[in-house]
Amino acid sequence: MADSRAERLYDWFDARLDLRSGQSFLGKAFPAEDSFLLGEVALFCFLFLVLSGVFLGFFYEPSTSDVEYDGSVAEFQGEEMPEAFASVLHITYTVPFGMFIRRLHHWAAHLFVASIGLHMLRVFFTGAYRNPREINWVVGTGLAVLAMGAAYTGYALPFDEFAATATSIGYNLTVSVPLVGDFLGEIVFGGEFPTSATIPRLYFMHVLLIPAAIAVGLAVHMALLIRQKHTEAPRESDVQGGGRTVDREDDGVIVGLPAFPNQAAVSAVVFFLTAATLSALAGLLPVHNVAEYGPNDPASTPALIMPDWFLMWVYGFLKLLPTWLSFSVGPVHVSTEFVGGIVLPGLVFAAIVAWPFVDRTGPTHFTTDPLERPRQTAVGVAAVAFVMIASIAGMNNILAAQVLGVSTGVVNPILTAALLGVPPLFGGITYLLLRDASEESGTEEGGTAPTAGGGSDD
Ligand code: HEM
Repeated sequence: MADSRAERLYDWFDARLDLRSGQSFLGKAFPAEDSFLLGEVALFCFLFLVLSGVFLGFFYEPSTSDVEYDGSVAEFQGEEMPEAFASVLHITYTVPFGMFIRRLHHWAAHLFVASIGLHMLRVFFTGAYRNPREINWVVGTGLAVLAMGAAYTGYALPFDEFAATATSIGYNLTVSVPLVGDFLGEIVFGGEFPTSATIPRLYFMHVLLIPAAIAVGLAVHMALLIRQKHTEAPRESDVQGGGRTVDREDDGVIVGLPAFPNQAAVSAVVFFLTAATLSALAGLLPVHNVAEYGPNDPASTPALIMPDWFLMWVYGFLKLLPTWLSFSVGPVHVSTEFVGGIVLPGLVFAAIVAWPFVDRTGPTHFTTDPLERPRQTAVGVAAVAFVMIASIAGMNNILAAQVLGVSTGVVNPILTAALLGVPPLFGGITYLLLRDASEESGTEEGGTAPTAGGGSDD
């Protein structure tokens, strides 16, 4: 009886929504590769960011007007401070679970960017960006830029001493763009920083504009993934399953776990592991301690200013570029800030976008083993070394004063030489090692471990 009621209910929905056609989607195959789950971690982080962000949005005040503090932090009692800062103190020390959710939001942002970076490296080193997936690589690069933009705009919101300084650096970079800099500064920061328009402007971008753009980008990213199907590791032999045999070379079929229930169960595990990791981080590790930095004081600058780790490479460019690089051509002034903070990072992203059109192939369904692609892997290793050294350069003052006990004037030329010399060196060594190994084994572009069978998807 219950069954027939359930069936009738199903039929009712089926007649209206054609659920049966959706069943073929539920049977879609997902290649059983652990590294393919990094994209899912990024996806779940985005979900946690939205959920925790909604909670914070109920209590945060995007205003820099001064208010008299009347909360539970004794040292600020009766002090005049920007309303944004007071509201973050309120979230952290008064709102039930406020500190936990604020930390969770913060850690989810870090894990979001980190998992995007690792996901991108996985796609790069397995050659999954190649024809026909170039468009999804380009969409993904856009998502990576948006994720960094979301983190940067969020960083500014507490309007503490540190955040205000970081925001002013962003403002200076923005207005450094020749000809349109002031206009961009007006759009993004609401005018010359600091102004009361800055925080509302960044808040709007942080909670609406950028998340909406990420959501749209993700929808396109996932639609392309479903349309083009997932890449798959080369099969070692023909695969038996579901009463049929799939030829090992047949690239019109994906061999993997069916979307439901198998892949859904794997994704549920990834979801709970992401939730557990974020909860553990939020429970145990403090984040950006606003009470310690104190409210923004326009008259002072904190001693040690550093961006988050994922923007450190950009900071490195700014630190290494010599000031004499600024020049003017007629009315157009090109400053060091513009070259280091906008042009060089822009070139890095342009190179990422261009890469699938440089490494051109015919349509490929299978991934490759990075050890069997000497040239591409060498480029990847050189690129990682470049970003790492630029990031170390971003911490040149710590390296100079606390590690080496010298001045930044001494370490900067060494870091510049390392930035220019080490990536080609690492790339060259990687190329030679892999070329010799693949010559010995007679392999080139192909031959990784087989994927476990279970479901297949034409
Ligand atoms: C918000 C950030 C991102 C999210 C949430 C995300 C999510 C995903 C997911 C869930 C998949 C399928 C599983 C997997 O292969 O890991 C995927 C595939 C893919 N992603 Fe992303 N991604 C993001 C950013 C990027 C970036 C930065 C790139 C590269 C620049 C990229 C390029 C690709 C490509 C080419 C595929 C297809 C891979 C294949 O078929 O093997 N994605 N993405």
